[in-house]
Amino acid sequence: MATPTLTDGRVTIRPIRIRDARPLENELMGNRAWLRQWEATNPHGPAGFDVKASIRSLQAHARSGAGLPFIVEHDGEFAGQLNVSGIAYGSLSSATIGYWVAERFAGRGVTPTAVALATDHCFFGLGLHRMEICIRPENAPSLRVVQKLGFRYEGLRRRYIHINGDWRDHFCFALVVEEVPTGVLRRWKDGRALESAARIPDADLQAATRPLRF
Ligand SMILES: CC(C)(COP(=O)(O)OP(=O)(O)OC[C@H]1O[C@@H](n2cnc3c(N)ncnc32)[C@H](O)[C@@H]1OP(=O)(O)O)[C@@H](O)C(=O)NCCC(=O)NCCS
Repeated sequence: MATPTLTDGRVTIRPIRIRDARPLENELMGNRAWLRQWEATNPHGPAGFDVKASIRSLQAHARSGAGLPFIVEHDGEFAGQLNVSGIAYGSLSSATIGYWVAERFAGRGVTPTAVALATDHCFFGLGLHRMEICIRPENAPSLRVVQKLGFRYEGLRRRYIHINGDWRDHFCFALVVEEVPTGVLRRWKDGRALESAARIPDADLQAATRPLRF
């Protein structure tokens, strides 16, 4: 399945290419402190840092229909990445979104725009039914992204994803297509996104401060 190029204003998401390896590596190296605490890691030990291999792997997932690997651009400049992964069809018809931008692009609404473009493509281009975003409780900027777009809080997943060297709790947010008949981007731009949908119940906020007992 082809990964499309989609634009709104100054933000474009487009398929990742092998020739993105150099700028991608530069940004990953130049933003180590900014990205490290949110980065997925390998539970079986440190993986090699081979950007070309990771691009090839993303492209293989795209070819198999399991993912959409986007580069995020701001005014045509490389700003970050957005990956749609774990695409399931049939009776689940669901997928997960992950993202990052380089620190110098933070705070310009690049990520909400990119997420809205990708989500609308998944709903109305691919016919998926549900899109999910999972975020560490400590990640206030990312929690703002789902809040702005009106993603609905679904729950706390304990020790859910291996991030920065350990299994980390995540808050899970989702939208199903019936909630956004005019699309996520249109709803947000029209000021109709329901920020309260992303509200996290106090019980989950408190639970996430306590380690899981086992
Ligand atoms: C989370 C992240 C993708 C948000 O992207 P973004 O394009 O900056 O999103 P927005 O412009 O909507 O900003 C979201 C919030 O970040 C905060 N923010 C703004 N500028 C910031 C800066 N320079 N540094 C840190 N946070 C900032 C603000 O709270 C902002 O909300 P506001 O617009 O209501 O003020 C980005 O901070 C990032 O890449 N962080 C590191 C990687 C990461 O956390 N990935 C997500 C894992 S789930």
